[in-house]
Amino acid sequence: MGRIEEICSYIDECESFADIGCDHGYCTLHALKSGKCKKAIISDVSKKSLAKAERLLSSYIADGRCKSVCCDGLGGIDRECELVLIAGMGGMEIIKILTEGFIPQRFIFQPMKNSEELRSFLIANGCKITADDIFIDGKYYFIIKGERLGGTKEYSKEELAFGRDSLNNPVFKQFAQKEIGKLSAFELTPELETKINFIKKAASLQ
Ligand SMILES: C[S@@+](CC[C@H](N)C(=O)[O-])C[C@H]1O[C@@H](n2cnc3c(N)ncnc32)[C@H](O)[C@@H]1O
Repeated sequence: MGRIEEICSYIDECESFADIGCDHGYCTLHALKSGKCKKAIISDVSKKSLAKAERLLSSYIADGRCKSVCCDGLGGIDRECELVLIAGMGGMEIIKILTEGFIPQRFIFQPMKNSEELRSFLIANGCKITADDIFIDGKYYFIIKGERLGGTKEYSKEELAFGRDSLNNPVFKQFAQKEIGKLSAFELTPELETKINFIKKAASLQ
């Protein structure tokens, strides 16, 4: 599966769906076309990016099932929106968007980096993480699905770093071997050894 298809597989039925930083709008097209969502909002801080999604979704915009909003983060999104997707941005940018806006009722996040910081933020804010996995599409990606309320039982250091479900996913072993290979190219310092051993332990490679 490609990255977009992987992300879309996490979208489930909802009344309202918002795709923040939608760019091309492919995920919203899937949500609407599949009938998973009744209404959708496409949003992007860049007018140029949003215009791509508007073209792709023009028929849904015309029939009133899709609304387009040019805004920063969750600025133009109703708090009642049932499911919010933020994909393809850094984890720190996602945290900033949530801090300046709100934590959605249900969410899917696909951070490009700093996924550990994002997990910590969500857990510290009482969110319930319902899926926390890894997938591959040329590169390795983490994906986090959850709900604003309900809390999550304490994560181990390994779960926090790589995702709770990732640790039982064979893709994670591949990721770990690749990471260890990259780190092994450097001169071995005690810090580096600790890091390598941490990854080995998380992936049960020792
Ligand atoms: C790499 S693209 C990801 C597109 C799509 N979500 C995906 O996963 O394929 C990132 C998009 O997020 C938008 N973006 C970046 N920061 C944003 C913010 N604070 N609020 C809204 N959109 C933002 C960019 O303009 C860009 O279109």
